[in-house]
Amino acid sequence: MEKKFQYRDIDLFLQHPYWVLLVLALGFLIMDPFEMSPVGGLDFRPVRNDVAPFDQVMKNWPGDNRSRLGQGNLEFVDEIFGPESLEFDALGRGPYAGLADGRVVRWMGKDEGWETFALVTRNWSEKVCARGKDSTTSKQWKVEPDCGRPLGLRFDKETGNLYIADAYYGLLVVGPEGGIATPLSTHVDGKPILFANDLDIHKNGSIFFTDTSKKYDRVRHFFILLEGESTGRLLRYDPPTKTTHVVLEGLAFPNGVQLSKDHTFLLYTETTNCRLMKFWIEGPKSGTTELVSNLPGFPDNVRINENGEFWVAIDCCRTKIQEIMIRNPWMRNMYFRLPIPMRYLAKMVGMRMYTVISLFNEEGEIVDVLEDKQGKVMKLVSEVRETNGKLWIGTVAHNHIATISYP
Ligand SMILES: *[C@@H]1O[C@H](CO)[C@@H](O)[C@H](O)[C@H]1NC(C)=O
Ligand SMILES: *[C@@H]1O[C@H](CO)[C@@H](O)[C@H](O)[C@H]1NC(C)=O
Ligand SMILES: *[C@@H]1O[C@H](CO)[C@@H](O)[C@H](O)[C@H]1NC(C)=O
Repeated sequence: MEKKFQYRDIDLFLQHPYWVLLVLALGFLIMDPFEMSPVGGLDFRPVRNDVAPFDQVMKNWPGDNRSRLGQGNLEFVDEIFGPESLEFDALGRGPYAGLADGRVVRWMGKDEGWETFALVTRNWSEKVCARGKDSTTSKQWKVEPDCGRPLGLRFDKETGNLYIADAYYGLLVVGPEGGIATPLSTHVDGKPILFANDLDIHKNGSIFFTDTSKKYDRVRHFFILLEGESTGRLLRYDPPTKTTHVVLEGLAFPNGVQLSKDHTFLLYTETTNCRLMKFWIEGPKSGTTELVSNLPGFPDNVRINENGEFWVAIDCCRTKIQEIMIRNPWMRNMYFRLPIPMRYLAKMVGMRMYTVISLFNEEGEIVDVLEDKQGKVMKLVSEVRETNGKLWIGTVAHNHIATISYP
């Protein structure tokens, strides 16, 4: 049942003078006859989405009053472009990273630097795709579907094969020597997979991976958040039969996926409604999902450490206005039809984002939280990998990798 609105929400809405002006302006603009608004030409249909109450989540979030991430380092600045996912092979070489220009690259040490390790399509060309720093900007958007965008990386430690979730080319695999990756799963139920995002490998060889939306691709991912649509899925690819199966559907921006140490369950993030979820694979609750934690911001990938604990990368924070908007689709429907560039509209409802990374144990309790409140070092995190006393922190939108010693 869809709740239309609450008076309390309206009150809060009107406390902000610019909102009143906007609401007045809406009278003429709602129709957006010239398709000038950010959503002009799109089939933009906001739906209600349940997100935990803002005040409650923020009150209970432990935070990091020492802002420890502010003491991290930025490495490989402007040498590496939007490294969303980071991985190390069985020999400990790496990091390997999936870049905004479509390549999977690997660090070969100071002398050799970064080398191209794998490509997700034969069509990749240096001329079209390798745009350096521009590849993390909107200049890449037009070519991104041709060049690829590897978002999730995992080595099979036994075979040395690297599995890749690519936003345009689905699930692929490449051998230990690299090269052009082979597609494994590009369709499910006869329809193309629009937005593969992350994966993990089950001990029996099956691969769990997320498909973020049936409606919007990666370039348009912002509209998934705005619309609140929940057509995302958790999929499973079974190598023996070469078939892909829908494990969960109706998810709101499913993003990172990580199996537990004993593979009895997996965790996945739902970015739109700011939460970390658990899916049981074995045991009495097998096949069911449950909430692990509501988060203060928008989560991306989840990665396990040696103790079987889970690092979650979070772009912080949610805002009160965002909560009101996500609960009231009609507001978003009007607001985002204003003929004002999206970046201004988004700025008014959002806030300056900063980085939070959080460590959860198997019971879903928070073990540690590190933040960079001033945004000194880290911006927009996508993944945290813990190896040998160090955290490696990826980002989808910036040109560096952040590191910090840990614990
Ligand atoms: C941070 O929080 C801890 C525990 O809540 C407190 O003991 C400590 O004094 C705080 N430190 C700062 C710098 O505020
Ligand atoms: C490569 O590009 C050609 C021409 O644009 C296109 O027809 C073909 O489908 C592309 N192949 C792949 C694997 O994307
Ligand atoms: C692997 O385990 C999963 C979870 O139990 C199951 O769904 C899948 O079919 C299994 N795959 C194979 C190849 O047996």
